[in-house]
Amino acid sequence: MKSYRASTDISVLNDYLEVPGLGFLAVNAFVIHAAEPVVVDTGLGLPDRDFVASLAEVIDPADVRWIWLTHPDRDHTGGLFALLDAAPRARVVTTFLGLGIMSTENPLPLDRVYLLNPGQSLDVGDRILTGFRPPLFDNPATVGILDAGSGACLSSDCFGAPLATAALASAQDAEEASPEELRAGQLLWATVDSPWVHAVDSAKFAATFQPLRDFGPSAIFSTHLPPATGASATMFDRLLEAPQTGPFTGPDQAALEQMLRTFEPV
Ligand SMILES: [Fe+2]
Ligand SMILES: [Fe+2]
Repeated sequence: MKSYRASTDISVLNDYLEVPGLGFLAVNAFVIHAAEPVVVDTGLGLPDRDFVASLAEVIDPADVRWIWLTHPDRDHTGGLFALLDAAPRARVVTTFLGLGIMSTENPLPLDRVYLLNPGQSLDVGDRILTGFRPPLFDNPATVGILDAGSGACLSSDCFGAPLATAALASAQDAEEASPEELRAGQLLWATVDSPWVHAVDSAKFAATFQPLRDFGPSAIFSTHLPPATGASATMFDRLLEAPQTGPFTGPDQAALEQMLRTFEPV
């Protein structure tokens, strides 16, 4: 995991995974350096990852006041409980449904939870963070963030894209990938992560971007894309094609066996 300051008050904790057949997918978490510091998502839970140690490169974990869990998928919850231990004053921002999903495996302590629905806001001392429902999502507990202080949009899974190389998945600007690669990758990810998009009314889907257009983000920070600055309208327009994009079908057993035959015997 590497970390860097993407803007005056937002740090990125960047990780990635290789997804066979698709490419390299960024798995980012973020720190909003507000008066009451906010960690947004907590990365992968793989045994060789240490989220709190990575976080300590950008902020003293004990200073964290909020852990905004954009949704409780496992690529977002890896360091959650270790961080709750390391940050005794922090509370987890999630929804009633997010709390319920967590309770099926490892319940969150209720006195450490803060329930917030899309449209509601959180005062973190020097700015207001407002929750919103991203146009694309893979989990009904998803709540992204509009940061009134920095103008940034933190979009959870939405706007992600598998990219051709690990270097691109770790890039500090999405525009290090070509516009063609970004377009193909974002539309692919839309159909992989939000397969329901093929069943939606295109006009109603387009209208879900309006709150974002009205906000006019200075930058978009997706969990699954390098930071995107200054090209948000292009990103919105690109995803409008998602309902018409061909559906994704994953490899089946025959494809898996074909893949296994290419592996070296142990
Ligand atoms: Fe997800
Ligand atoms: Fe994700």
